[in-house]
Amino acid sequence: MSFPIYRPRRLRKNDTIRKMVRETSLSPSDLILPLFVTYGKNVKKEIKSMPGIFQMSIDNIRKEAKEISSLGIPSVILFGIPEHKDEIGSSANDPHGPVQEAIKAIKDKAPEIMVITDVCMCEYTSHGHCGIIKNKDVDNDATLELLCEEALSHAEAGADMVAPSDMMDGRIGAIRDTLDENGFSNLPIMSYAAKYASAFYGPFRDAAESTPKFGDRRSYQMDPGNSEEALREVALDIEEGADIVMVKPALPYLDIIYRIKESFGYPVAAYNVSGEYSIIKAAAERDWIDGQRAMLESLVSIKRAGADLILTYFAKEAAKALIRG
Ligand code: PBG
Repeated sequence: MSFPIYRPRRLRKNDTIRKMVRETSLSPSDLILPLFVTYGKNVKKEIKSMPGIFQMSIDNIRKEAKEISSLGIPSVILFGIPEHKDEIGSSANDPHGPVQEAIKAIKDKAPEIMVITDVCMCEYTSHGHCGIIKNKDVDNDATLELLCEEALSHAEAGADMVAPSDMMDGRIGAIRDTLDENGFSNLPIMSYAAKYASAFYGPFRDAAESTPKFGDRRSYQMDPGNSEEALREVALDIEEGADIVMVKPALPYLDIIYRIKESFGYPVAAYNVSGEYSIIKAAAERDWIDGQRAMLESLVSIKRAGADLILTYFAKEAAKALIRG
């Protein structure tokens, strides 16, 4: 059917009709809010490159929990900033570390929140890499043991889901085995399955104080030019027991989200990372773009590409905007 019989503009005439025929819509229940948990008391320190996002101590995290839940955001993902870092990230499995304590605080205050934990060594190592260093590179198999201990300590503290983000080979299988052997066979794993070596993580590394002290992460995170490899990574992780697979970052990799959804039909999460957040915030501060519209347009495009879940620093702001309508 063609013009003038078919006039697509008929269905764009006003907001009501546009809403009625909208194919993809966003809801607060699609969103997962990342939280940066630190040690100490009464800490609420704004991250310079991420306006509106804070490192918070447990007491402040506890205060946030109810608000997050009342906005209809079902879930948070926790990142820890420990008091002590060393070569092997020994504080990662501290039963009283920031993440472990935050899990308990949130579950106590708002048990309905699904608490996910990021499982990675980079926040706990003095050199900032995601594992143990041998011969100036991250040693894969030695790192797996540490990741298993970290994941288990999160599970024991009461986490509802663990999310390994380190990109070591075989980590999903190793963590699945550890959880199963310790009575956590019902705890789901969300794998950062296709995680690219990206410049868009810059502001996060300020927030989590996890910038590598030497080199970069290109020997374990993926090359931005690759998409077949992303499918192989996802296939491996599903085989090893991943329940949800993630693509990260989101906006520069919408094609990857789409292909993974089409190929596997598994629940797909996408991480709208720190740089994607900061870019919009910075431009909006200068009045160069309408920040709210750019935020909602970004999020809906990630969902349209095929993501079921979106991890985003915009979660609270977006939920408020969606509730207002
Ligand atoms: C930890 C981790 C990173 C992010 C999430 N988990 C940083 C990295 O790999 O350097 C990035 C999140 C963001 O930029 O918002 N490995």
